[in-house]
Amino acid sequence: MGEEKPVRGFIFACTDRTESECYDRMMLAADRTYGPVVIRIREGDLLFLHNLDTDALHGVFRAVSKGDFNLNAKAWNGRYPYQIHFEYIGNNIVLKNAKGILAKISVTRNTPLIKEKLSSLLEIFMINPGITNSALSLYDKDTTLLILNEKEKVDKNKNDVDIEEEIPMLEATTMWDFPRQSYGITPKGNNRYPGVTPALIIYNMIWRYTDPGDLVVDPMCGSGTTIDVCKEEKRRAIGYDIHPVRPDVIQNDARNIPLDAENVDMVFIDSPYGDNVRYNEHPDNIGNISSESEQFYDELEKVMEESHRILKDGKVLGWLIGDQWVKRKFTPVGFEIYNRLCKYFEPMEIVCVNRRGQSSHTGLWFNRARRFNFYLRGFKYLIIVRKTSETFSKSSTRKIEWTHYDRG
Ligand SMILES: C[S@@+](CC[C@H](N)C(=O)[O-])C[C@H]1O[C@@H](n2cnc3c(N)ncnc32)[C@H](O)[C@@H]1O
Repeated sequence: MGEEKPVRGFIFACTDRTESECYDRMMLAADRTYGPVVIRIREGDLLFLHNLDTDALHGVFRAVSKGDFNLNAKAWNGRYPYQIHFEYIGNNIVLKNAKGILAKISVTRNTPLIKEKLSSLLEIFMINPGITNSALSLYDKDTTLLILNEKEKVDKNKNDVDIEEEIPMLEATTMWDFPRQSYGITPKGNNRYPGVTPALIIYNMIWRYTDPGDLVVDPMCGSGTTIDVCKEEKRRAIGYDIHPVRPDVIQNDARNIPLDAENVDMVFIDSPYGDNVRYNEHPDNIGNISSESEQFYDELEKVMEESHRILKDGKVLGWLIGDQWVKRKFTPVGFEIYNRLCKYFEPMEIVCVNRRGQSSHTGLWFNRARRFNFYLRGFKYLIIVRKTSETFSKSSTRKIEWTHYDRG
């Protein structure tokens, strides 16, 4: 990659009601849905504004800050906390039929504009100056030259790509299925580590339950997937393991976490769960205790107690766990873990995560499962619970006006 970082483009949205605030503040903004896109934007990237009511596309703008959380907490009454400051590149050009233009170059709000896509959008702005904002003093000719200058920068670094082609959207249902262990350009964790966690599970957890800058702890973090996801998504992270395999993982027993009480914004744990996965031979590795024995759950309960202690009030723990079927014996590990968690926490959700990439997911094992009448484990539970206290549950009581409809 060259010395200059490649210029990328990003589309923001507004409505007639929110448009003027963008120009008054010289800021563009989005809600949590597009938070993962906004935090990836850096100074110098190009920005466009799509007014959804008029279907007009405004541009071309340049980011003069990086995309961040709550640059101005009061703006838009706090409804759009993922924000960025911008400046005009010449006149503000307003193009009609934005949906048509964006569809033609296959761009949505979570697909950054890179390479040819950005270049062709800039070209559309150059050849079709649309209606300009007359309050600005430059002539269209100068604006065209300024956009051409940006286009040349984009074309020069066309082969350098440092952002994923599609920023993952957050899951909307409780059924998750991720085809790959990692996402994005840099690897997250080590996909050869036994029992490595699919990175998008952690991505979804932190985008739902934390804000940028929050502290996330993974007491059993193995190959460090949680650390890598947090770094990319701008959260702080501490990862421990009984047997660290990389230098930024701290050696520690999860039953005794060296952190003060009430300091942490989220805990994520993908714990050992089955007798058929060997993580390491460390004597304190809980994975070496059979999940058919009561002791296994007693030891993990100590991890739950510690997680509860370090979490701030109202904050969330995600625990990923699978059931076991070994030597013709089924053990509902997930249910037992759920019951133990409920001793300390308020249950919030159970998500079903498709188990892909298992060594037993081969034609041979599929045939055996049919022939000998057993099932291969097809899913894991992601149990989501929250630390609550009297004060938290009282202060969070709010009335929600649901829309009712009749089933015809
Ligand atoms: C399923 S793996 C975690 C995978 C990890 N999330 C990743 O993506 O690589 C479970 C981990 O728990 C760790 N472990 C087992 N007993 C532990 C203990 N007493 N304290 C801390 N970690 C422990 C194991 O060493 C193993 O790395």
